Amino acid sequence: MKVNGTQYRTIWVGDDGWRVNVIDQTQLPHNFKINTLETANDAARAISTMMVRGAPLIGATAAYGICLGMREDASNGGLDRVCELLEHTRPTAINLPWAIHEMRRVLRNIEGECRVNTAYTHASNMCAADIETNQAIGRHGFELLVKLSDRKPTGKPINILTHCNAGWLATVDWGTATAPIYMAHNAGLLIHVWVDETRPRNQGAALTAFELSQHGVPHTVIADNAGGHLMQKGEVDLCIVGTDRTTAKGDVANKVGTYLKALAATDNDIPFYVALPSSTIDWSISDGLNEIPIEQRATREVTHITGRNVDGSLATVQLTPDGTNAANYAFDVTPARLISGLITERGVSEASASGLQALFPEYAPTTKARGHKLSS
Ligand code: MRU
Repeated sequence: MKVNGTQYRTIWVGDDGWRVNVIDQTQLPHNFKINTLETANDAARAISTMMVRGAPLIGATAAYGICLGMREDASNGGLDRVCELLEHTRPTAINLPWAIHEMRRVLRNIEGECRVNTAYTHASNMCAADIETNQAIGRHGFELLVKLSDRKPTGKPINILTHCNAGWLATVDWGTATAPIYMAHNAGLLIHVWVDETRPRNQGAALTAFELSQHGVPHTVIADNAGGHLMQKGEVDLCIVGTDRTTAKGDVANKVGTYLKALAATDNDIPFYVALPSSTIDWSISDGLNEIPIEQRATREVTHITGRNVDGSLATVQLTPDGTNAANYAFDVTPARLISGLITERGVSEASASGLQALFPEYAPTTKARGHKLSS
């Protein structure tokens, strides 16, 4: 996608062939800053501080973190150490262990220094696959939007509500929830997006609004609590969100607050879709509420807020009284029964075990041992 007219991906290898460039998402929307990762520790820090975030991009950064780790120590011990370091950066997105497992699978039979080149090639392939997957998600979601648009009065936009940022900034490119939106907008469909601000880190207000405005998609940022009211008033035609982990039965863990939107959508008969690459499905679990680890982050993200001063500098200010207790649950689980459909790279599936297995017959449920689908 484009930023100020220039084509970017969220992660790419620099001209030297080994340093890894990322867009610093902690600075958006106010500063467009590119940071360079030189070590595995840099990659781990980029994930845990949310310089990069969003399930697919977390996976891609971990893959490149392993490349950087292989440059430092390409032995088996080095591989184990870098995987261990990256594995503990964020707990909820299944794409993280998935990407680490994929890299390990490819590297385990390669000896010594050859591992470095192989690692870079595979990480690059994974990024290319992410883009193709998101484009396929976009095409399937686009069909849903075309059907909706046929039912709208002439000149009236389709109003889509989204939560957090499941946009191109959360992936390598295109995004998951936003891919259908970008394709529909590019095809000339009238689209308007209600963007949940997404407290406490404001990924909606800061990141989704940034990318939609860069692409020229009409949108309105709303306080998180406004969605239910808009749904009651007929101002939302459908919701599309992303996911960090989807169970084999179609429960979905996504940014905290997603569940409340799904409840309101169900109460108002509004379709509630989740867009996801199949790498986000944890085939080894079925009970989202009890089996998906929910990240708890620093309470300072709740008690404080960052924004731009009139002089252009960024400032962080305190919202709560001194010493206030706070809790920061980063994700919640939306049960499959509240989800109208899962938009995947293979098509739209019912949010159920049978729906997912019909689209992905090769992924029989596995044991719980690895927490993600193991391919040989
Ligand atoms: O905490 P974040 O910003 O990493 O959370 C991101 C989300 O919740 C996204 O909706 C999810 O990762 C899907 S991204 C395509």
